[in-house]
Amino acid sequence: MNASSSANATPSPASGAGRPVAPTPGAASAPNAKLAELLSLAGRRVLVTGGSGGIGLAVVELLRVAGAEVWSVDLAGAPPPPGAIVKPCDLRDKAALARVVHEAQAAGGLDALVHCAGITRDRVLWKLTDDDWDAVLDVNLDAAFRLLRAAAPILRARNGGSVVLVSSINGERGKFGQANYAASKAGLIGLAKSAARELGRFNVRVNVVAPGMVRTAMTEGLPPDVLRTAQDESALGRIAEPADVARAVLFLSSDLARHVTGQVLRVDGGQLMA
Ligand SMILES: NC(=O)c1ccc[n+]([C@@H]2O[C@H](COP(=O)([O-])OP(=O)(O)OC[C@H]3O[C@@H](n4cnc5c(N)ncnc54)[C@H](O)[C@@H]3O)[C@@H](O)[C@H]2O)c1
Repeated sequence: MNASSSANATPSPASGAGRPVAPTPGAASAPNAKLAELLSLAGRRVLVTGGSGGIGLAVVELLRVAGAEVWSVDLAGAPPPPGAIVKPCDLRDKAALARVVHEAQAAGGLDALVHCAGITRDRVLWKLTDDDWDAVLDVNLDAAFRLLRAAAPILRARNGGSVVLVSSINGERGKFGQANYAASKAGLIGLAKSAARELGRFNVRVNVVAPGMVRTAMTEGLPPDVLRTAQDESALGRIAEPADVARAVLFLSSDLARHVTGQVLRVDGGQLMA
């Protein structure tokens, strides 16, 4: 067998092997261009609640990279996410939230929503106060309902759009010490599935992202053994970064997911598989 007939033989420098393969003009760039188009949110206005938080900030950053104009709704005094249009608003204030949606309508409408704001008030059930329950349900679930209700006519009129509600795997499996939080996150799933059925005929998609443990301010104070358990539960053997969740939000908000609605997308490294 001589060198030129062997597929595994080391080619001579004169053969050109080792040089990068030149792309066929036009052919290689077309699929990439199409992919960029499918992921693009250029010309779209997206309202993100909790945009100053760990996951919210990553969502704002990635949606902006995809070309969206992002309105970040978070508490007054929360650090403003760079590049976003900041709308200070306490989501528990019904009138203030309605004003923000009205402003968006006046500015030309809304194309997508991401409800990312959330709080915890962890205690075992028999120690949970009414206030612990109400506070968590108010921000995590009631605000999502009020936001969706206010934005639905805008999205319907536009005849297209996407809503992503950030839930948690603990809304699916329950969690010791989190009856209020888990109930609020389970409620988001029912809300999203119902809204998906009601808004589907208007080409508005409604989905849920359910993260497992993510490294943010919400989890940094947890005891090390809780973090270790989450890491051990994960098939990937790690705790998520906020950007991992943001990628799923971008997928669901983009035209790549145009036939996806009423779904719960877990972003948990395989922490919960059922
Ligand atoms: N970190 C995790 O491990 C994890 C896991 C699963 C789900 N989640 C969910 O992801 C979302 C984001 O969590 P995070 O870890 O980034 O938390 P975070 O505490 O970093 O961010 C939450 C954001 O919500 C805002 N917020 C709270 N109350 C508000 C109110 N009344 N009005 C307006 N804004 C308010 C906060 O100011 C903050 O910017 C939450 O819904 C959380 O439940 C987080």
